[in-house]
Amino acid sequence: KKSEFGLLGLGVMGKSLCINLSNNGFKISMYNRHVDGVEEHVALKFKKKHTELSSALPFDNLEEFVNSIQKPRKIMFMVNAGKTIDAVIENILPYLSEGDIIIDGGNSNYNSTKERFEYLKSKNIHFIGAGVSGGEEGALKGPSIMPSGSREAYKSVQPFLESIASHDRNGLPCCAYIGPEGSGHFVKMIHNGIEYVEMQLLAEVFSIFKATRKTPDEIAEVLEIWKKDVDSYLLNITIDILRKKENNDWLINNILDKAGNKGTGNWATIATAELGIPSTLIASSLFARYTSSFKEDRIKANISFGNNDSSNIKIDLIDLLNAYQFARIINHYQGFKLIEEASKFHKWNLNLSEIARIWTSGCIIKSDLMAVLVEVFKKSKSILINESIKQQLQVLRPSANKLVSQCILNEIAIPCLSESVNFLNTYTTADSSANLIQAQRDYFGAHTYQRTDDDSGKFYHTNWKN
Ligand code: 6PG
Repeated sequence: KKSEFGLLGLGVMGKSLCINLSNNGFKISMYNRHVDGVEEHVALKFKKKHTELSSALPFDNLEEFVNSIQKPRKIMFMVNAGKTIDAVIENILPYLSEGDIIIDGGNSNYNSTKERFEYLKSKNIHFIGAGVSGGEEGALKGPSIMPSGSREAYKSVQPFLESIASHDRNGLPCCAYIGPEGSGHFVKMIHNGIEYVEMQLLAEVFSIFKATRKTPDEIAEVLEIWKKDVDSYLLNITIDILRKKENNDWLINNILDKAGNKGTGNWATIATAELGIPSTLIASSLFARYTSSFKEDRIKANISFGNNDSSNIKIDLIDLLNAYQFARIINHYQGFKLIEEASKFHKWNLNLSEIARIWTSGCIIKSDLMAVLVEVFKKSKSILINESIKQQLQVLRPSANKLVSQCILNEIAIPCLSESVNFLNTYTTADSSANLIQAQRDYFGAHTYQRTDDDSGKFYHTNWKN
């Protein structure tokens, strides 16, 4: 009997999805390439280890794998983003039939997804770019899935993806058709941008606590209390991380402080710049990772400038919690704003409330705040014009201002916390200093400017030297 669904690429995520699909009663085919001495009989060995996979068919021959699946075939790729995807597409194409569906479940660039969608369309093959979030555990127990492409093709794979996805508080699957082309991968990319900021904010909170000489266990204890106000997956794993000990010492103290990345934060920052949208926190969190990677330079600078002086630090815990909450709201505002503007630009017609909903469970940025946003976006497109969020920000703002000022006076690096305060200050300034920028542009480049005393929109040029 042929399989209903194929999974190609048995890395950590691919394997977990296979078990998840089998646990949901689907008959699947599993494929992993053969590399002499490195990847040999991966699918077969994997099947033998897991009783859940008793009906799954293992392959390391691509043609046999494809032939083992019912038409129209539904094959999900879980391979590294980038050139690997194109290579696998070329290898598998000769064996596919018209109407077959490929799903790319990796963190692919949304522009590449669009190109692959068009290319495969010309071959009568459907291509679904699907963001998958939740890491290994999510893939196994229920990830959040963001699929895009043609709606018809999605309908064929919907029963599979929605069964393996996580479920929200109302029992609905955390998987929904996002929109056309690469919109699913775009949305996943912004998910990761928001994720970068959420991680960076917790890292900044950690450095503030460290300056006050709290131990990791003591910090974890405070964060534990924070759960009732700002519960999230990332807060919970941070508490676990801070408590982890190895040979009587906290493991965190022995982890090298150079942050890695696989590119989605970089792409999200490029996208925000290209679309002309100020998602400043995403950029700040990315650059914070980049700065961290210059460890040797930082050590040298520390010697030449001396230690940052935080000896007089006194932090009110309420201010810290409030500032953290404040920055998280700004982060979510900016991330969703970027999605909204991209949706308008590309005519994707994305549903912000539905995106927030599929991010309430299964994914890395699931949080109590996300659940609130599902309702907020049902009423308005922007977080900042929602009355209750606005009131919350007004209450939190003085604490955020105070905390950020104290950190700066104590030379503690807080790029995202401070940017959140600066952003709101900039955003709420009706008469900004951009008039000076316009004058400067006109002075040296005759770029012209508009006038406040002429609302016709006419552009003026001044001969500034006379
Ligand atoms: C998720 C994560 C996941 C991963 C990314 C980001 O939603 O499950 O976003 O996709 O963590 O690979 O990784 P980097 O931090 O390495 O860029």
